[in-house]
Amino acid sequence: MTQSQWISDFITPAFPVGQSPRDPAVYFRKTFQIQGKVQKATLYVTAIGLVESHLNGETVGDEVLAPGWTSYRNRLKVSVHDVTHLIQQGENALGAIVGEGWAVGRVGYDNRRNHYSDRPALYLQLELDYGNRTETVCTDHTFRCNTGPILENSLYDGEVYDARLDMPGWDQKGFDDRGWTGVETFEWPRESLFVGTFDPIRRTQHLSVQEVITTPSGKTVLDFGQNLSGWVRLTAQGERGTEITLRHAETLTHGEFDPTTLRSATSVDRFILKGDEVEVFEPRFTFHGFRYVQVEGYPGQVKGENFTAVVVHSDMRRTGWLETSNHKLNQLHQNVVWSMRGNFVGLPTDCPQRDERLGWTGDMNAFAPTATFLYDVRGVLGSWLEDLNVEHHQKGFVPWVVPDVLATPSPPTALWSDTAVSLPWRLYQQYGDLKVLQDNYSSMKKFILDVETRLDETGLWNRGFQFGDWLDPDAPMDNPMGGKTDRYLVASAYLCKTTREMAETARLLGHAEDHTHFEQLACRVHQAFLHEYITGAGRIVNESSTAYALAITFGLLNEQQQTRAGKQLAQLVQKAGHHISTGFAGTPLVVHALSQTGHLDDAYRLLLEETCPSFLYPLSQGATTVWERWDSIREDGTLNPSGMTSLNHFALGAVADWMHQNIGGLQLLAPGYQKIGIQPGIGGDLTFARLRHLTPHGEVQIHWELKEQTVTLEVQLPEGTEAEVVLPLHPDNQILQVTAGHHQWRYHLPETHGEKPEYTFDTPLKILAGDPDVWGRLTRVFEHHFPGYPIDGNSPEAGSMNIHLILNHIPGASQQLQDDLKNAITPTETEPA
Ligand code: BGC
Repeated sequence: MTQSQWISDFITPAFPVGQSPRDPAVYFRKTFQIQGKVQKATLYVTAIGLVESHLNGETVGDEVLAPGWTSYRNRLKVSVHDVTHLIQQGENALGAIVGEGWAVGRVGYDNRRNHYSDRPALYLQLELDYGNRTETVCTDHTFRCNTGPILENSLYDGEVYDARLDMPGWDQKGFDDRGWTGVETFEWPRESLFVGTFDPIRRTQHLSVQEVITTPSGKTVLDFGQNLSGWVRLTAQGERGTEITLRHAETLTHGEFDPTTLRSATSVDRFILKGDEVEVFEPRFTFHGFRYVQVEGYPGQVKGENFTAVVVHSDMRRTGWLETSNHKLNQLHQNVVWSMRGNFVGLPTDCPQRDERLGWTGDMNAFAPTATFLYDVRGVLGSWLEDLNVEHHQKGFVPWVVPDVLATPSPPTALWSDTAVSLPWRLYQQYGDLKVLQDNYSSMKKFILDVETRLDETGLWNRGFQFGDWLDPDAPMDNPMGGKTDRYLVASAYLCKTTREMAETARLLGHAEDHTHFEQLACRVHQAFLHEYITGAGRIVNESSTAYALAITFGLLNEQQQTRAGKQLAQLVQKAGHHISTGFAGTPLVVHALSQTGHLDDAYRLLLEETCPSFLYPLSQGATTVWERWDSIREDGTLNPSGMTSLNHFALGAVADWMHQNIGGLQLLAPGYQKIGIQPGIGGDLTFARLRHLTPHGEVQIHWELKEQTVTLEVQLPEGTEAEVVLPLHPDNQILQVTAGHHQWRYHLPETHGEKPEYTFDTPLKILAGDPDVWGRLTRVFEHHFPGYPIDGNSPEAGSMNIHLILNHIPGASQQLQDDLKNAITPTETEPA
């Protein structure tokens, strides 16, 4: 469609609606005549608000929550439906229901509504192709409108549907609409309209009730077994006027329904029966982030079979799968997938349940490598980037949330604002299509040039606002920005990365002058970073896991420094007892930094640690999605009281990228996977992994297995790709070059494989405790020398405590004690290797 082809009017009711949170949805209708054979009928639909269109008594298409959320005044998506099969000879009825949605309703945590308009409006354009002529039915002043059974419809607060107000036949010919009122035309920039065919929001799955729970206080709660985005469909039969209430929540606390994580988003749907017959309800213009539903007022016994959870999100194509021999890792991976599904309802959001659900840039930036593996995100993220791009130019800054609905301008901050550069870059890497760089070039450049003006004379980004390593678990609960890692170190490290991405983009697109400029800038920022933060030997002045992880994975160190930094990082990670000590900036990268510097074992220990804070701890609390904080639910089963405790936040699920690259073994060596790296890092207790990924060239499969000291690796590569294969644990460190097709290797591990590592008095107790033979001997030595004072290998300090430190506390420790300890940690001859 070209601009001049948008010939309909936006229409809105002649009565006031949309300014109050308790306003109803609006029904529109009109009839028209068909004379002759229509070869093709195409309906173009959009709304300021949310729309469901109807033709001759049928709902058109299977899209829900249309038109999704975009930067509406700049880009309003029009859905296109082939409705040829719904057209009738003679009289036809065209209609739509319009709800408040993101455009009119409440959005954001500051309780503001009407971000885009103070009332809803509808746009329909029905193109009738008769072969020799075309006719168009447009929304215009001839439409009629009314309110109906949808009494309230709020994305955050839920829907109220009173079936007594049903209007049977409202979307068919012959319906008496004399009581309906007229409409007004509504001014809206026609240039904003675009036909969006990518990944509509749909019902993608239906889940049945796992358990009907009676809580200690006697409430009836349905457990769907999975935290998700969507709503519930229910069936009921009861007296006219019976009101059924469904309350949604992510969790139970001490067995009771607990909606605390929703904050002010009440998420309550209410259905009022018209009576007599079996009635089926499902809301239209809301969605909830939930696993549990409290049912009130249900007529008769609440039976699971009468309720279904409808999973709703952008219907993207799945492109990545990973399965391992460790069921906890599989659950973690599945949680990541569910958090992605729950947070791709039209655009990438931080969370789907509370009074927020915003397109937070930093969350998406951190998660991008994982998202691009799991699903084809070209549609959703391509659209979202267009919004970012256009709002960036209009506002002069990259909004922290896109579309921007924050009350104040967003100053530039690493990880969030630089999504303008890193996301197009990531999409280019994933799909190998330069267009995404071309389309976003001006926004990428604008961001870097803006930050350039903020650098000090040496090239450091050390002024102004920064989120830093947001949500470092060691930051005070009420100050998520107050982590251990200097926020300006974080900012400058990220800038080293983004200036390089920028320089490389300029080169790829042939912008020679820009290339030179950004290359020099990248160099300057890098030098300033090294000068300010890194010692010649490779230590970082800010001894934190995040600081090391950034310097290592962003390639900011020379070889010698890299090795040293890796050792320091491994020690820090060990000292923390392989607990997580990083926030949004560092968490996705620490595991990479460890494995890249030869500390695969520590990477696995970090990944497999189960006590809080750790990747697997939430599983022990029944998590089915990724949480915002590691202790969103604390060990005593209560919710973290910070008020920011979503149980469905994909950001920290970014660790799945490491799992894909190092457990699955798939690495991207050239844009679009033209060149692939196959390098599984076998470790932990894993005995197999199976990965599949749909690259732009076709499907890659990797399967490895470790059985009785024999490794089998099987690889399937699509046409148009080649790979470099590093055979895991191979005695000769073999690296092979292979082309498309099926490949298989099988080899025995060397005798030395699995030999016990050498322990010293500096080895953390926690690691010693992981070796049952050594730990058995050690505890015996302690029992002998200090009866009644056992050592604890699982205490929170065990990661930083070692024998050396214990001996320091025993003035004049005897030579016998020292010898016994030495023997205890030395493997014996008889022990199997
Ligand atoms: C969101 C985060 C976001 C952060 C930044 C939070 O409220 O949920 O995920 O990135 O704010 O301030």
